[in-house]
Amino acid sequence: MTKFILAIDQGTTSSRAILFDRAGHIHGAAQQEFRQFFPQPGWVEHDANEIWQSQCAVIDEVLRTNTVPATDIAAIGITNQRETTVLWDRATGEPVAPAIVWQDRRSTPCCEALRAAGHEALFQQKTGLVLDAYFSGPKLKWLLDNVPGARARADKGELAFGTVDSWLIFKMSGKHLTDPSNAARTLMFNIHTGQWDDELLALLDIPAGLLPAIVPSSGVAAHTDASLFGVALPIAGIAGDQQAATFGQACHSPGMAKNTYGTGCFMLMHTGQAATISQNKLISTIGWSLPNQTDYLLEGSVFMAGAAIQWLRDGLGIIEHADQVEDLALAVPDNGGVLFVPAFAGLGAPHWDAYARGTMVGMTRGTNKSHIARATLESIALQSADVLDAMQADAAMPLTQLRVDGGCARNNLLMQFQADILGVPVVRPVVTETTALGAAFLAGLAVGFWASQEEIAAQWQMERRFDPAMAADERVQRMGEWRRAVERSRAWSQ
Ligand code: G3P
Repeated sequence: MTKFILAIDQGTTSSRAILFDRAGHIHGAAQQEFRQFFPQPGWVEHDANEIWQSQCAVIDEVLRTNTVPATDIAAIGITNQRETTVLWDRATGEPVAPAIVWQDRRSTPCCEALRAAGHEALFQQKTGLVLDAYFSGPKLKWLLDNVPGARARADKGELAFGTVDSWLIFKMSGKHLTDPSNAARTLMFNIHTGQWDDELLALLDIPAGLLPAIVPSSGVAAHTDASLFGVALPIAGIAGDQQAATFGQACHSPGMAKNTYGTGCFMLMHTGQAATISQNKLISTIGWSLPNQTDYLLEGSVFMAGAAIQWLRDGLGIIEHADQVEDLALAVPDNGGVLFVPAFAGLGAPHWDAYARGTMVGMTRGTNKSHIARATLESIALQSADVLDAMQADAAMPLTQLRVDGGCARNNLLMQFQADILGVPVVRPVVTETTALGAAFLAGLAVGFWASQEEIAAQWQMERRFDPAMAADERVQRMGEWRRAVERSRAWSQ
């Protein structure tokens, strides 16, 4: 009998492979960082081949170091950084350009032109998204318009587009596929019909022949080439990382929400089996599609969270390891009046300001690196509080608790401040690798490794709960200060 599900978690800064057993526990994990390229201000690129190679390396490592033969694996679940856009040659499997990463702002003019032409409402109504450079469609248009020969080759059917899930599946199986949770991030996909949308494709000037086929998030979509593992393994789960984390956190019913503290910070709330179109600049997205059911979520996407801590490490050099930020911040009793808006890649929800830039205010001669560390941690929670306000207004139901995960969720100072500033309990599960776990659950459900969603939900266990301890008037005052700081960061580079 097979013993494990192999989850492939291809994130923005690292590729991971994790083996989960039937109890949903981690049996083994391997991780490898890969290079980030910043060729111009506002541009962020990855080498798609390096993504593939790093992914192969960690899969090999996790199987080897845990002496798990491929025949012990029931299925593979894939989860991935979303929106990042890969364009490759169908015949050779070679990318025709660097992958444009979700944080990249170069397609802002395309979004502005579509907005100026009056198409914003149409895109929002069909895709649930706002017209922003974050999403894949405008990035793909940029590639077709700027990579020499790309448009002509696309018209001849020689090229394939995919988000990172599609790219990895193509490399593993030769099949060109994606699932609705990833397709829903492209501005080309109608979230109500579950199909690519010809009207939107025409507005973006993108040939339909470039696009992958849509398959359910949970279901056997393809088999790996036998040369990879010695046996052909089923790829049975596919979901964008934030939707996978929502599934892994067992937020399976309306009103349940999670926040993942990764490179960015992504709060998602389950809204049922029909899309709720946001009135407050959040996005509606498909969570996952099971064979007979599609679940929808409201999402607030914050672009800089863990990446701001990475900047303390790599940009300022005030810490050597990201984990040191908590101790550095605890060396002072408060932020000393410093507020930091880490709008390095503009601001996402609910501001959607591509021209906002990083801003630090309130510094005095007494400001030191601990205050900056503290302001950085607080900025992560404050950005999430802006999102939660919008979410409460849209969903019209009070949030009773927020489930948290991702690297920075280990930071107790941040989690306590998050509960304080939200006025809502923050709950951390035992397994915080919920992104990979969600992909494993989707794959395991498809092949009968787990019997039902109820069985999965029963595996969720709390590790620690942070209750709000801040007085209501202090919360109001802190949010007021934050909003003033955000205003100062806005439209800076316009
Ligand atoms: O939308 C971008 C998101 O999917 C990236 O997630 O975990 O790589 O920061 P992460």
